Amino acid sequence: MDSQLAIRARGITKYYGDVVALDGVDLDVAQGQIHGLVGPNGAGKTTLLGLLLGLAVADSGRLEVLGTPVGRAFEAPGGVAGFVDGPGLYPSLTARQNLAALTALRGDGRRSAGIDDALEQVGLTDVADDRTRGFSLGMRQRLGLAAALLTKPRLLVLDEPSNGLDPAGKKHVHGVLTRLAREGTSVVLSSHRMDDLEALCCEVTILATGRIVFSGPLGKLAAENRELDYRLLTSDPERARRLAAHTPGVRLSDDTTAGRGGEVLVVRALVPALDDLVARLVHEGVALRELAPVVSPLEAAFLALTEQRKTGAQEQKTESEQQKTDSRRQENGR
Ligand SMILES: Nc1ncnc2c1ncn2[C@@H]1O[C@H](COP(=O)(O)OP(=O)(O)OP(=O)(O)O)[C@@H](O)[C@H]1O
Ligand SMILES: [Mg+2]
Repeated sequence: MDSQLAIRARGITKYYGDVVALDGVDLDVAQGQIHGLVGPNGAGKTTLLGLLLGLAVADSGRLEVLGTPVGRAFEAPGGVAGFVDGPGLYPSLTARQNLAALTALRGDGRRSAGIDDALEQVGLTDVADDRTRGFSLGMRQRLGLAAALLTKPRLLVLDEPSNGLDPAGKKHVHGVLTRLAREGTSVVLSSHRMDDLEALCCEVTILATGRIVFSGPLGKLAAENRELDYRLLTSDPERARRLAAHTPGVRLSDDTTAGRGGEVLVVRALVPALDDLVARLVHEGVALRELAPVVSPLEAAFLALTEQRKTGAQEQKTESEQQKTDSRRQENGR
């Protein structure tokens, strides 16, 4: 075991009946790293986070958390805290009482001294004495994080912690996570928002239908050479359209829309071809008023990778269905 790794997973597979939720997943998360997990609905993110928290066990593969192999017992490995599918709270107790109850249940009364501090860190001081029954999703998420902080974890596992957070809540949560990571705690969190992950994580893992389609630094993901769609607003849409049509490597999309400042063209191109188009526009005296990717380069990379995987999975399924049909035909022919 590499002592610098908080998580080392090799060939993790998890089935729910016939459904393969995780299919040969390898994952390395370094100590003190904030690692993002992203993928379409049903990709296996919650399943993987649940394994890290000891809420379920893998059907095969090896999982080491904080240097200790995770066995077949359903228990949270020592030093790990977090939650999936929202934190469990007592609705009739206040936020402060919930944290006190959780520390008492853990037999860790000493930690109750940190409750006020934890509430302050997540920005819940003002509602500390309100019952959690009336808490919004974002407030519940923040209280769940406060509860995890009280255990002083070395690995924090959070399933979509940004769900329901208002901008102030997001700022608090981001602040807490970056401080924890600076102090050496590793954080694994899932999200559906690439911009969220971009603000927090240095590395991400993209899952699609139970398999990893990318794992590594965000910079590597964004830097991949990929054609993007760009919105183009100019002073003369007709001439811009003609120039775009005659610029090698630039394709006009049908998605032309009416923007605030006139007709917005959508063109698809690699950056060099786009540069060429901009130079031509300027040379012809067409003013450029707006030029921006329709979706961010990270989002585009995510969509391309997960779409590929979906198409591949569908093709595989069709192939295996064809094999079944063929073998049925052979049996019938006998
Ligand atoms: N308890 C369960 N019983 C049966 N199937 C399950 C169970 N939990 C998950 N699955 C299936 O496993 C697959 C992965 O689900 P999982 O919840 O891990 O995905 P996810 O990436 O977290 O999705 P989402 O973005 O919607 O939260 C899905 O096909 C899901 O239907
Ligand atoms: Mg999930």
